[in-house]
Amino acid sequence: MKKKVWLITGVSSGFGYELTKQLLAKGEIVVGTVRNEKNVIGLMEKYPDTFFRQFLDVTDIPKIQELVTNVREKLGRIDVVISNAGYGLFGAAEELTDSEVDHILATNLTGSIQLIRAVIPIMREQGHGRIIQISSYGGQVAFAGNSMYHATKWGIEGFVESVAQEVAPFDIGMTIVEPGGARTQFRYGSAQVANLMSEYNGNPAMPF
Ligand SMILES: NC(=O)c1ccc[n+]([C@@H]2O[C@H](COP(=O)([O-])OP(=O)(O)OC[C@H]3O[C@@H](n4cnc5c(N)ncnc54)[C@H](OP(=O)(O)O)[C@@H]3O)[C@@H](O)[C@H]2O)c1
Repeated sequence: MKKKVWLITGVSSGFGYELTKQLLAKGEIVVGTVRNEKNVIGLMEKYPDTFFRQFLDVTDIPKIQELVTNVREKLGRIDVVISNAGYGLFGAAEELTDSEVDHILATNLTGSIQLIRAVIPIMREQGHGRIIQISSYGGQVAFAGNSMYHATKWGIEGFVESVAQEVAPFDIGMTIVEPGGARTQFRYGSAQVANLMSEYNGNPAMPF
């Protein structure tokens, strides 16, 4: 069977890293994006012909377009996209700064939206594709102290549910994944926690 070309954002740790490792072990081709390559040097050395590390901050919209165009040109197709890059922001809505609000929207919501918008024309032209959006359990329920994280995950789910109907006639499938809590870097440092949450109960709610 022909190897698939996968494009996965945020493969330096957590779900992205684990998915990449398992796909490469099965012989698939993975373009994995990172902001820092240190955690994927081992994969680059082990899979020089099938793992392609690309630098991307998903808040950089022109770079997203540049990346998908390059992948299409170099590898000929993009069979599966996993929109995975994201982080948690925990704190009472009133205490978050404007820049914290803007940055999580730019990353989890707009970054995912722009990635999906960028790959659809390629998948439509090639006549197939699968887009997998990593959302969260927190994309369907809400807890105090997680408002902006929920806003991004509920938001991306609404976007995907609508776009899935638009692209179905072109043989493009869309999947939303809603994990519960997992022991990734999300729980050990990558999530941002604002001050007031610790005053509420000493232990910010982080059920995902
Ligand atoms: N772990 C959980 O409990 C859980 C539960 C539900 C959903 N999720 C979702 O799962 C996805 C992956 O998270 P994870 O749990 O695997 O956490 P993780 O280990 O922290 O991995 C997150 C990945 O996203 C990347 N990333 C963050 N901001 C980025 C940006 N602006 N541009 C490009 N890449 C960026 C990180 O890169 P750097 O290394 O450069 O920071 C990292 O590679 C997220 O969408 C998260 O919301 C996680």
